[in-house]
Amino acid sequence: MKLLKDKVKSEGLVLAKGVLKVDSFLNHQMDPFLMREIGREFKSRFADERITKVLTIESSGIAPGIMTALELEVPLIFARKQKSLTLTEDIFVEKVYSFTKRETNEITVSKKFIAPGERVLIIDDFLANGEAAFGLARIVEQAGASVAGIGIVIEKSFQPGRGLLLEAGYRLESLVRIASLDDGQVAFVEETP
Ligand code: G4P
Ligand code: NA
Ligand code: NA
Repeated sequence: MKLLKDKVKSEGLVLAKGVLKVDSFLNHQMDPFLMREIGREFKSRFADERITKVLTIESSGIAPGIMTALELEVPLIFARKQKSLTLTEDIFVEKVYSFTKRETNEITVSKKFIAPGERVLIIDDFLANGEAAFGLARIVEQAGASVAGIGIVIEKSFQPGRGLLLEAGYRLESLVRIASLDDGQVAFVEETP
């Protein structure tokens, strides 16, 4: 996706340890025009999947998630990282280990929002090790629903997430793929046209 790639080139900052800082349009300040295009792009890629719901995880997944849900004309659910005070009903819980933060979080979704037989599209801002995506997929499967696809805004292709998700049989669509962040430079995966 050219618009997104240009944005990464002009505004992305490479931090130490293979981390890309994109807080001017994705992780802190958010660009609504870019988000709208991201929603349209995911819609076109998953148009044939009969999606009934979009599922993401708070907080940075919500913006691309809601725009995708708007385009697909289905609801968005976001998994919570902290247990909600008002969440008194039955919940699905999965553990997600964060390599960047070196901690395990429990993510939760209320059982009332995913029904058996639904076709759920998982959306997230980054794919690194795939922990968040697998946690969300396990929640969908716990519900007796199926994962219709996984849509990622920025994939760090040099980390294991992509390979693990494909190996597990999921359909993965990443809008931008980063081959390396070595020497302070962003190198993109060359897409074959
Ligand atoms: P994983 O889910 O793919 O295994 O990723 P990991 O544990 O490594 O990442 C933990 C958090 O860091 C996630 O956000 C993830 O989106 C984000 N992340 C991973 N690599 C990068 C990167 O290179 N740049 C940026 N900007 N973020 C990265 P989170 O903690 O859930 O935060 P948020 O959604 O509230 O922003
Ligand atoms: Na994030
Ligand atoms: Na995220």
